[in-house]
Amino acid sequence: MSVRRLAAETVQPANFAFTPENLSWAQGIIAKYPEGRQASAVIPLLWRAQEQHDYWLPKAAIEYVGQMLGMPYIRVLEVATFYTMFNLEPVGKHFIQLCGTTPCRLRGAEDLIKVCHDRIGDQRHVSADGNFSWLEVECLGACCNAPMVQINNDFYEDLTAESFNALLDDLAAGRPVKKGPQNGRVSSEPLGGPNTLTDPSLFDGSVVGAWRKRFEEEDAKVKAAAAEKEAADRAQAAQAAVTPKPAKPSDDTAGTKATDTPAHRVAEGKPAVSPADQAKAADASNASSDEPLSKRPDAPTQDRASSYAANPNQGEVAKPADDKAKG
Ligand code: FES
Repeated sequence: MSVRRLAAETVQPANFAFTPENLSWAQGIIAKYPEGRQASAVIPLLWRAQEQHDYWLPKAAIEYVGQMLGMPYIRVLEVATFYTMFNLEPVGKHFIQLCGTTPCRLRGAEDLIKVCHDRIGDQRHVSADGNFSWLEVECLGACCNAPMVQINNDFYEDLTAESFNALLDDLAAGRPVKKGPQNGRVSSEPLGGPNTLTDPSLFDGSVVGAWRKRFEEEDAKVKAAAAEKEAADRAQAAQAAVTPKPAKPSDDTAGTKATDTPAHRVAEGKPAVSPADQAKAADASNASSDEPLSKRPDAPTQDRASSYAANPNQGEVAKPADDKAKG
């Protein structure tokens, strides 16, 4: 952290005033703020004063801005000495702010500091030709391109002692220079070019199309399976409509026919059915299956059957053999 003091009296100008253009601009800035809040314009006015005065603020400029804004001198001096973007003493035509914070240190800031010492001298010292002065500052926010310097308003990054020396040579000679990274990078991409997201299909839309196609295929599969199941259900229902239902387990006829064959009887150790029993069974079977109940030999008498048909809910009349009823 540098000491924030005004420059020596020997370099301070006797007075300061905005040029007509800058004065008109300053009045426009002040007019942006409501009545009584003109002090809010102090930073832009100080910055414009610095630009007009070879990029440093003399005491006379601080007093001048204070008078324009109706601020006490000490209030404006507090602002000018607090913000390091205001230079309080003369700087070179190319003012170098060299980042000396850890990332830049790890990437070679020491080499750049040595270049400054060799070419310019100590910090806050203007070179004999007036071209350069330098100051070590804290992180300037370009750590991805360390080490770096700011010269006036521009960043120069990815520097080495060699490229930094070449840059200063070009500036001193008035040649055009390249701002930003000095090692071929465009921004802060990986050295040697990108090494991730390099598949061209990521950027031509085909990957998006592939995903869409996959979703469409899966959707078609689901629909086909549903249609197949629906068709199978329909066929099963149609088959059930034309096929008679199997006999119930309580159907005696079906049960006996399946299990009472001669082979079953032999297998179960039962004697074979005699011809007489077979004839008797045949007669009983015919009678039970074809003839109506009233024509069978064991049918109930007409009277009894009639009484049940006339009133099936009526119980039998109590028998007169009840001793107690007789008295
Ligand atoms: S540490 Fe140098 S720019 Fe951040």
